[in-house]
Amino acid sequence: MSARRVVLIGYGAIAADIAAVLLAARDPGYALAVLLRPGSSSAGRVPEDVPILSGPDAVAAFAPDLVIEAAGHGAVRESVPGCLALGLPVLISSIGALHDEALYADLVATARRGGGRLLLASGALGGLDYVRAVRHASQLDLRYESRKPPAAWSSELRALGHDPAALSRPVTLFSGTAREAAARYPQNLNVAAALALAGPGFEATGVDVVCDPAATGNTHLVRVSSEFGTMSLEIANQPSPTNPKSSWIVAQAILAAVDQHFSPVVMM
Ligand SMILES: NC(=O)c1ccc[n+]([C@@H]2O[C@H](COP(=O)([O-])OP(=O)(O)OC[C@H]3O[C@@H](n4cnc5c(N)ncnc54)[C@H](O)[C@@H]3O)[C@@H](O)[C@H]2O)c1
Repeated sequence: MSARRVVLIGYGAIAADIAAVLLAARDPGYALAVLLRPGSSSAGRVPEDVPILSGPDAVAAFAPDLVIEAAGHGAVRESVPGCLALGLPVLISSIGALHDEALYADLVATARRGGGRLLLASGALGGLDYVRAVRHASQLDLRYESRKPPAAWSSELRALGHDPAALSRPVTLFSGTAREAAARYPQNLNVAAALALAGPGFEATGVDVVCDPAATGNTHLVRVSSEFGTMSLEIANQPSPTNPKSSWIVAQAILAAVDQHFSPVVMM
């Protein structure tokens, strides 16, 4: 079987974990390339035999079967439209970028025109299948709480006058809609955006962001109730060893999505 061709956008904590697994895979193997901004400090971490691409022309020449974004909201704006316009499937992890209605509409239109597909990774969260199933319920109530240790919120805590190392009790940093949360915390609230898009939308998805010195990992709490029943889901993720803002599981979730993308059997 010939190698599956994958372009990774970005080469940080998540992309490096993904690359390590795909480069070790055999039968089929994977041919990888990495799309980075010119002069990116991440270039030095990319394995020597993996080509570094700098724009849509180079992506087109590499002819990938799949593009994976693990780079941030900026990359969804800068690089994803060009890949969709080439007719490629693009799996994005920075779903929070889609809180911008104009960007989302533009990406959908570009995908339709070019034959590309925007694939949304479940990332750090589970249970999106249930949320999708109840999305049209007439009595739907969906609330999400993110609870992370101070290391994930150092700069935000300092901005509020707290010393992250001396925090003795939980601090609620935010309470509001998924749209505001995704806009305010681009690196931390992709999960809220995923819930909003699976469920009743950005305005109807309630979000609380709590920084808790007693938290040992990144905890996601999702509560759903509707005429169909209730769901209460708690996930406690270990932070990535190389980026405390990201959960370690995210790369594994994306690898599972890659598997589904190429599989003749798909779980919906
Ligand atoms: N869906 C989820 O559950 C979830 C969870 C965690 C992180 N994420 C998303 O994944 C992203 C990456 O996470 P990470 O921990 O690997 O971050 P990281 O900071 O370790 O790495 C980011 C990488 O992207 C590169 N980059 C930044 N902007 C770019 C651009 N415009 N074009 C190309 N490359 C660019 C950086 O140089 C770096 O290599 C986060 O920014 C976040 O949006 C999603």
